[in-house]
Amino acid sequence: MGKSGKSKKKKLKVLIAASECAPFVKVGGLADVVGSLPKALEKINVDVRVVIPYYKEVQSSKFKVQSCNSKFKVKFGRAEEVGVYESRLPGSEVPIYFLENQKYLSGGGVYFSKDAFVSSQEEIRRFAFFSKAVVEFIKVSERKPDVVHCNDWHTGLVPGLIKSSKLGHSATVFTIHNLANQGFAELSILKNLNSITPESELIRWDAEDDNLDLMLQGVTAADVVSTVSPSYAKEILTPEFGEGLHQVLKAREARLFGILNGIDYQIWNPEMDQKIEFNYGLKEGPAGKVGNKIYLQKELGLTVNPEVPLIGVVTRLAEQKGIDILLEALKGILAFGAQLVILGVGDPKIEKELRIKNEELREKGSFKAIIRFDEELAHRIYAASDLFLMPSKFEPCGLVQIIAMRYGALPIVRETGGLKDTVEDAKTGFVFREYSAEALLEVVERAAGRFGVENIEFRQMISRAMQADFSWERSAGEYLQLYQRALEYKNLQSA
Ligand code: GLC
Repeated sequence: MGKSGKSKKKKLKVLIAASECAPFVKVGGLADVVGSLPKALEKINVDVRVVIPYYKEVQSSKFKVQSCNSKFKVKFGRAEEVGVYESRLPGSEVPIYFLENQKYLSGGGVYFSKDAFVSSQEEIRRFAFFSKAVVEFIKVSERKPDVVHCNDWHTGLVPGLIKSSKLGHSATVFTIHNLANQGFAELSILKNLNSITPESELIRWDAEDDNLDLMLQGVTAADVVSTVSPSYAKEILTPEFGEGLHQVLKAREARLFGILNGIDYQIWNPEMDQKIEFNYGLKEGPAGKVGNKIYLQKELGLTVNPEVPLIGVVTRLAEQKGIDILLEALKGILAFGAQLVILGVGDPKIEKELRIKNEELREKGSFKAIIRFDEELAHRIYAASDLFLMPSKFEPCGLVQIIAMRYGALPIVRETGGLKDTVEDAKTGFVFREYSAEALLEVVERAAGRFGVENIEFRQMISRAMQADFSWERSAGEYLQLYQRALEYKNLQSA
């Protein structure tokens, strides 16, 4: 029941399936994409809806979610009942559906392990069940989507399940947000997936190494595959970034596209942001940030001094994010007279190392790691920081460097994936190539050397960064083309 209905052209119906969607439930950047891309698609007249599991966390949240009074059965070993709940993406009319099942979807946390790259079989079963439930949900819905847009391994079984079901009308798009996490299922799961036939050639081939790779299933079964930046789309065709799937991806190269993520500029706007102490915009530039910087220095117990460069880091604490070289370079960075603030949670080993650093460096007043998930503090860090560090080993897109630019914190990034596609060296930030503590130190020295609220070059860079446009409006049109492509491919196949 979209409100427009004005256009004569038939609206394309899209269902986006994923494991997370902000603001309802967020662990990483995937949630931001699933929570904001649909709003931009709605604006270009796509009838778009979202479906995610009805986690306990969502049930006990402040969001208003209503029962649709509809239930259906999913055969997963035994027949399981699934309930449907509904809400809207805040600030839009986009419907979001939540699928509820106590046994598989609605107990425990969102993911079951803290290590983002090793999924337990419990977690795999959750999302295999979810994938099957999504397909059954489509079957019982009146509205049949033209395109089902799946995201990461959690929904990797959906394209194959759609093909082997009677849902011939839906084309499928599979988006890779992070190839490093693929979801390896024990083969015993096959007995629960009876509509994906174990005789299928693809399944047999995948199963040769005694597991099913749910990411691989999505990549091979979808009509069209995409990833979240043009550079990462090229990188994953190489052994270095392909995580064992580069040859499979190469074979599908003609159907593989890279579309850069955007951010929601309604949420990320330093002029209006309620979560920061002092609002500012392009007009004020770096001067507008000083109050926020002093506020954060006080809040975190750092030496209060607006004259020293403050470097922010907001990240998942995972190997991917380059925390190892950051820790190696830490003392050197502080020796330049800079302050460094890290906010994040993740790998317990990294969390522990950061706690030790907090102790070691307590007296200095120039370093603070805050080990928790804190969206509000993240806003204050973007607003306060002069520089923003992201030394990732690999980065499919990365959103925080884009947010940092909007807040006039110049990103220091490694030249990889989406970082390479969004930050221009010496124009909107600082870019380094080699993955090493030495290269990192060199670039931080270069950036800290430029710092100075009165420095004209620095001010110009900030102004350019704040004006860079990475809104979803840019990329939503590309997704629409991708959906149309998927339909063409599907029609070719069924012709
Ligand atoms: C994953 C990737 C990140 C990307 C995000 C959203 O978290 O690691 O680079 O921005 O997904 O697509």
